[in-house]
Amino acid sequence: MSIENFFNRDIVSIKDFSRQDLEFIFNYTDRVSALGQNKKSELGRGRTLGYIFYEPSTRTRMSFEAAMASLGGSSIGIFDSKSSSVEKGESLADTIRIMDLYSDVIVLRHPLDGSSRFAAELSENPLINAGSGSEEHPTQAMLDLYTILKEKGRIDGLSVGIVGDLKYGRTVYSLLYGLANYNVDIHLISPPTLTIRKESIYDIEKKKLKMYEHYELEDRVLTKLDVIYVTRIQRERFPDPQEYEKVKGTYTIDSNTLRKTKPDVSLMHPMPRMQEISHSVDNTKNAIYFKQAAYGKELRAALLALVLNENAV
Ligand code: CP
Repeated sequence: MSIENFFNRDIVSIKDFSRQDLEFIFNYTDRVSALGQNKKSELGRGRTLGYIFYEPSTRTRMSFEAAMASLGGSSIGIFDSKSSSVEKGESLADTIRIMDLYSDVIVLRHPLDGSSRFAAELSENPLINAGSGSEEHPTQAMLDLYTILKEKGRIDGLSVGIVGDLKYGRTVYSLLYGLANYNVDIHLISPPTLTIRKESIYDIEKKKLKMYEHYELEDRVLTKLDVIYVTRIQRERFPDPQEYEKVKGTYTIDSNTLRKTKPDVSLMHPMPRMQEISHSVDNTKNAIYFKQAAYGKELRAALLALVLNENAV
């Protein structure tokens, strides 16, 4: 695997990336992060990132902008469709074509499955999926894996618990496909109405990833886990608000939970966090969700450097 394999490449789905690709990206992230600012600024100087967000975002959009700035480039974009011509009915296709004229790389978040693939086919410049539909958030999965690698020193051999809304949370699906490249045990912990959608992990099941399902945060499971990846119950994706009321607040990770885990368990969360992780554990060594968000900027800077440069450092 070499740098040329990534130049001008679209990043649409985590399923398009092999373990070898991922390991290259993680090593490259280390290399770019270690560069002095002058050298780093050469990787994006004079280049423009164009973002189009049809759904709200804090971390993904800001970390892409911050990453592009760290490479010496600039960003333009739409993050409130009401203030763009999307409000007048302009199509996704035309919006992408226009952004393609004004930028060197496009970052897109859109509620529909397949939207990023469609946009990538239209755009001449590389397109990066910043979250689409119900199961794709490839750069989140990459930064999640990178965080595990940095904090635990390895991914193989770990026991990973994924807790919360496994039905509607798209980060979970991308993460599972990413983890399927490694030798890991997965414990899926959700209310019975929010279990993983089997049809969306069909290919993973074929790879025989070891996955176990639970409805409770049982002590016997907590004691096994090296990583607990907590997700928010996605209120906005429930067709019936009463169903959300029944499950909200099902799990809360707090200091009482941490008494039952391995002492060095890592608590992760793609964020935003509601009440599923108590603020009281934020200052423990286990809480790495803010570090995870910081790694997101580093990893996205590396991805931008790779797709924009034929001969990146
Ligand atoms: N993790 C994540 O996608 O966060 P945002 O929705 O704030 O971008």
